[in-house]
Amino acid sequence: MAKSNYTQSDLMLFGALGDLAQRKLFPALYQLDRSGLLDQGSRILAIARDSIDTGELRRLLDKKLREYIKPEECDEVLLRRFLQRVDYLYLDFTDADGYQSLNSWRGAPDSNLIVYLAAPPSMYGVIARNLRAANCCSSKTRVVVEKPIGHDLASSQVINDELGEVYRENQLFRIDHYLGKETVQNLIALRFANNLFASQWDQNHISHVEITVAESVGIEGRWGYFDKAGQIRDMIQNHLLQLLCLIAMDPPSDLSADSIRDEKVKVLKALREITPDLMESHVVRGQYTAGTSNGKPVPGYLEEEGANKGSATETFVALKAEIENWRWSGVPFYIRTGKRLPEKLSQIIIHFKPAPHYIFDPDQKHLANNKLIIRLQPDEGMSLKILTKDQGLDKGMRLRQGPLELTFSETFDTDRIPDAYERLLWEVMKGNQYLFVRRDEVEHAWRWVDQVIANWNDSGESPKRYAAGTWGPVAAIAMITRDGRSWYEDA
Ligand code: BG6
Repeated sequence: MAKSNYTQSDLMLFGALGDLAQRKLFPALYQLDRSGLLDQGSRILAIARDSIDTGELRRLLDKKLREYIKPEECDEVLLRRFLQRVDYLYLDFTDADGYQSLNSWRGAPDSNLIVYLAAPPSMYGVIARNLRAANCCSSKTRVVVEKPIGHDLASSQVINDELGEVYRENQLFRIDHYLGKETVQNLIALRFANNLFASQWDQNHISHVEITVAESVGIEGRWGYFDKAGQIRDMIQNHLLQLLCLIAMDPPSDLSADSIRDEKVKVLKALREITPDLMESHVVRGQYTAGTSNGKPVPGYLEEEGANKGSATETFVALKAEIENWRWSGVPFYIRTGKRLPEKLSQIIIHFKPAPHYIFDPDQKHLANNKLIIRLQPDEGMSLKILTKDQGLDKGMRLRQGPLELTFSETFDTDRIPDAYERLLWEVMKGNQYLFVRRDEVEHAWRWVDQVIANWNDSGESPKRYAAGTWGPVAAIAMITRDGRSWYEDA
């Protein structure tokens, strides 16, 4: 077994038999091991409330890892070595006495201890208190928690207070897995390593910004969770607002966690409140009905397994966000996200303003603004649409729009893009918080989203219907058309 240069980390994984752990966390840990990033002595304690033993867990993981890892990345020797690192502990999370056995499991006393709570947020407080009572953590312990942190500002404060009673902010790693995506981090490089863009990044040069995070899947057996959350809590409060922050924030003075997070918080604080009179022009919520997805008929949200037929939960949201500061005054950010849209696609489009004086054929004037298309997934890359002269003697000075194209997989010879969870776990092991969300970010995001939800509740309006496999309710198209614009795909 190769010894890596990295500090030994012991990971206690609460909720180890859940979907997140099985589908994302264990595969990510295996990949870290495969890349030589786990120290020889690093161990994983899988903790859950099922009466199985370590042997059974390893057999289960052996099966699941083969399901979630590409066959060419599944090395028999590495897999066996990885499974040897994992032990299982049955624990009722509320049983304080049970936590005593955690201490005897620890390896080297000076190893990093990481506690990963892949458990319901309502359990975070009790787990934290029980760990403290059993003397299982120190000021060096790092605690990883998953979204959603609450379902509104007040409940997120309760959860954060409970965690804060036991851990300091610099021990808490709140995950938003979008921040672990390679292309999302690239937004920082794109903006702050290229003066070409830095000097153009404001209301003098940009007319508007679009952010689309579309999924073709429906609710996939998660109806119980999703129906209480809806798309605004599940996606906008976290992933979409984080993307908006990375696009809109001012340059941080360095790459430290707090420099970046301070700038993101300023954006969240500057978001214009969407008051009841703005709801009609600024917000559209939708719910999918039966339709087709990838050529196959699919049921509507209310016909999914386990559905409550009267649910008014939204599966689609389009919003016009405005940032009230010098940089972005008058530049709308149109954001939309939904389930059962035509394809899985996350992209950001920066629409630059046209040149101040136009001298070409009047019928081509609509072409005259550059666009930067940032493809977050799939087909990761970016494309800058620029105007050139059309070729040929007969074309005169006719214009043509073409891309300056950067497709990461073609330009850089990377064999694989690591999954977001690999990067995030790796950053936790290194103790670097810049890809994790600070408490005040969570709270400002809730504050903004809460007022939209309150307005929905007060209006009593139902979400607008859209057929599965379409780009959401017609009202979402009308929202942007009213401003004389269109969503990029529809252009
Ligand atoms: C999760 C949401 O945070 O992100 C899911 O809870 C959503 O509803 C998922 O499907 C999307 O993530 P990704 O990485 O597939 O775009």
